[in-house]
Amino acid sequence: MDEQGRDDGTGGADDPGAALEAYHREHVLECTRCPLHETRTQVVPGDGDPRARLMFVGEAPGYHEDRQGVPFCGAAGTLLDELLAGIGVTRADVFVANVLKCRPPGNRNPAPGEIDACQRHLFRQIEIIRPAMICTLGNFATRLLSGRPDGISRVHGCELPMTIAGVDVLLYPVYHPAAALYTPSMKQVLAADVARIPALLGDVAPSPRAASPGAAADEPAGAPQEAASAPETTPDAPDAAVPASSPTQLGLF
Ligand code: URA
Repeated sequence: MDEQGRDDGTGGADDPGAALEAYHREHVLECTRCPLHETRTQVVPGDGDPRARLMFVGEAPGYHEDRQGVPFCGAAGTLLDELLAGIGVTRADVFVANVLKCRPPGNRNPAPGEIDACQRHLFRQIEIIRPAMICTLGNFATRLLSGRPDGISRVHGCELPMTIAGVDVLLYPVYHPAAALYTPSMKQVLAADVARIPALLGDVAPSPRAASPGAAADEPAGAPQEAASAPETTPDAPDAAVPASSPTQLGLF
C-alpha cells in the first residue's frame, strides 16, 4: 500500500470495507500530519457502510466525537439521525465522515493548514467508498469538495454533478445540523433539503462502483472537478421541498 493508501489500483472496489479499514489503520488512526494530533483524545475517521451510495461530510469532531471516536454522536448527531429517519434511512445505510478527523481545541473552526493536511484522508475515503451522492454539511465540507468559495446559505439545496477523487458524484450541500439546531427556520430549510435526497439519488446512476472501477488509479487524490452539465438550480427553486419517495423504490440501497 502506498502513501495514499492505494493497494490495488481499483480504489478498493473488490472489498471497500477491507480497503477502508486498512487505510484508516495505516494512515488515519495514528496521523500526525498537523498539530491537532497533540490535543486530540482519538482520531475520528468516519463511520457507516463502506459501500454506501450516500455519504455525509461534516466539519470536524467535537467534544463527544473526540471522546467516543464516532462522528456526529452529540446533539448535532441526534438531529442528523432525525433527518435520516425522515428519509427512511439509518446511519448503518450511509457513511458519515468529516473534513477534519481530529477535534480542533474548543471546537474552533478548522484552520486552513489543518484542512490541507487532512483532506487527503477524506479524498481517499471517497475513492474507496465511491458514493453516488455526497451531502456536505455546512461551509467547510461544501467549500472543500466543491472547490468553490460560495457560502452554504447561497448553495444549500443546489445539487452539483462533480468528479471528486476520480469518482462521479452528485454533490449536495445542506446546512450543518449544529447550525440548524437552535434556529427553527434554518432547521426547516435543512429538513426540506434533506427530504429531496431520495429523489436526487434515484436520478443518478445505480452503481458507480460497478460502472467505473479503477477510474481513480492515476488521479491525484482530491482535485474536485465539476461535471460538464451542472443543472441550474437555486436554493429557492419550487422543487426544493419535493417529498421523499420510498428509498427502496428509488434504489437507495
Ligand atoms: N460536527 C461535525 O461537523 N462533525 C461531527 O462529527 C460532530 C459535529
